[in-house]
Amino acid sequence: MVRITDLKKMKTQGDKFTALTAYDYSFAKVIEKAGIEIILIGDSLGNVCQGHKTTIPVSIDDMVYHTACVSRGAKEVVLIADMPFMSYETTQNALRNSGMLMQNGAKMVKLEGGQWLSETVYQMSERGIPVCGHLGLTPQSVHQLGGYAIQGANSKAADKIVNDAKTLEQAGAQLLVVECIPSSLSALITKKLKIPVIGIGAGPATDAQILVLYDVLGISDQIPSFSKNFLLSNNSILSAIKSYASAVRNSTFPTSEHFVQ
Ligand code: KIV
Repeated sequence: MVRITDLKKMKTQGDKFTALTAYDYSFAKVIEKAGIEIILIGDSLGNVCQGHKTTIPVSIDDMVYHTACVSRGAKEVVLIADMPFMSYETTQNALRNSGMLMQNGAKMVKLEGGQWLSETVYQMSERGIPVCGHLGLTPQSVHQLGGYAIQGANSKAADKIVNDAKTLEQAGAQLLVVECIPSSLSALITKKLKIPVIGIGAGPATDAQILVLYDVLGISDQIPSFSKNFLLSNNSILSAIKSYASAVRNSTFPTSEHFVQ
């Protein structure tokens, strides 16, 4: 059984760990068997399961349904459920909606945003709801950001992400995802924070990596440049996922083609 405290210990010891998204019972079973430490029931299900262009249409009912399905398949990993767009716009809604995800099998919930979430993260943490932050490219804000582009590329934007990361940690967040930021910036955040930092398109220096399952299996409409189809060099889904996990552990993924410095 992997616990959040084990992930913190792994950070302290310099042992890298791996996360992958899942949306259903059968894939959750395979991912757990492959030895992945974290399964994220990502709101990327809006793209890869529902066929939407963004994660914005995903509802809390969708997330509750998929969280319940995944939790029946994976009992031993840290199960993180995404809080979808507008399900945490007030602290009260965040408490109610995260409570539903926890009651349906999540062991932690993830939300996108920085400073403005500090009171919400504090209130959730105080009530026993473990929180994972998400900074950098936050897909629920795609229209605000003007597209799926790298974030934190200038010093003002980078400083804001660092400050947001520290604020979330102080508020009680126990993990942080950083998406599509320069590798040098994710290295700095990983060093500054005590909590484990999980990267996606953020270079090799983070404590862990996360990818979208359907990218790893090569069945997404478009595989992002920071991701990799591990099924190409493996003859089963289980061995593809195992090979992703070992590539992260022995630092052979990501390589320079998967991130910007
Ligand atoms: O929804 C998702 O899959 C995510 C990961 C890409 C981090 O948030």
